Amino acid sequence: MTAHGRNRRRALVVGGSTGIGRGVADAWADVGLDVVVLSRSAPVGPGADRLRWVATDLTDAAQAAESLMLVAESSLHSVCYSAVHYGDRRALFKECSEAEWRRQVDVNLHGLWLTLSRTLPALRRGGTPGVFLGVSSEVVYNAGPGRSGYAASKAAAAALLDSISQEENTEAPGAEAVRVVQALPAGMVDTPGIRRRRPEGFDYSTYMRPASFAPLARELAATAGAGLHGAHLVVDGTGAWYPVSDKLPVSQSRRISSGTGS
Ligand SMILES: NC(=O)c1ccc[n+]([C@@H]2O[C@H](COP(=O)([O-])OP(=O)(O)OC[C@H]3O[C@@H](n4cnc5c(N)ncnc54)[C@H](OP(=O)(O)O)[C@@H]3O)[C@@H](O)[C@H]2O)c1
Repeated sequence: MTAHGRNRRRALVVGGSTGIGRGVADAWADVGLDVVVLSRSAPVGPGADRLRWVATDLTDAAQAAESLMLVAESSLHSVCYSAVHYGDRRALFKECSEAEWRRQVDVNLHGLWLTLSRTLPALRRGGTPGVFLGVSSEVVYNAGPGRSGYAASKAAAAALLDSISQEENTEAPGAEAVRVVQALPAGMVDTPGIRRRRPEGFDYSTYMRPASFAPLARELAATAGAGLHGAHLVVDGTGAWYPVSDKLPVSQSRRISSGTGS
């Protein structure tokens, strides 16, 4: 990493090379944050030159911990965890391999644990509380057939974030508590991770775009999550957000029969 971002507020997006994480990384760069992305592949395309990248494979816990230590050496203002391993295709539990399950746990859950453990101190170090944004999913609330590993790992990730948010007392005088916010899309989002699981020629016109997360990301950059600590927010296609308790997104799961999942 170079020194050109010295004195700028720093942000980290784990899984920020593509998809929703990239939408958050771009929005934070837009408002002047010095953004580091952790992922296996480098961010590409418009705006990628504003993002620093630390090549990291979350299935290699030692490498991930080293990358996170490097990023968290200096104070952080905002951290987002958006990395995900969906699985090769939707499949019934009886067809899922242990290797695939381990990968989902490594990327969707253990990577989050590592990120929290290494970055929470750096989020407290800036003098004002920082914000941790976890990208969640409707599957946390709905579960569903054909997605057992994804559902279980995402639900555990949500519980981990909830537990930590309850440990952080943002009201105590002089508290250096970190604000924890979870956000999930109101519907399907057109991302590379989803495209890998869809047939060629699939119609994405009803799908949300990762940029829908930009208004919430900008709000968190401006307020460090003030008033949103502990919230589970649904983000819709217009970029507006509301508490998940107002309206739970419908399940994106569907009944699948053996061998036909996509
Ligand atoms: N898209 C949707 O419709 C939807 C719906 C509900 C919830 N979500 C949630 O949104 C979040 C992001 O999903 P997305 O659809 O935007 O996914 P995506 O486009 O596939 O992006 C996933 C990110 O995770 C990184 N990643 C994956 N495996 C990794 C590994 N082993 N090591 C390091 N980085 C890794 C990817 O980077 P590299 O490939 O470069 O490593 C990429 O930056 C997830 O938490 C998901 O549960 C998405």
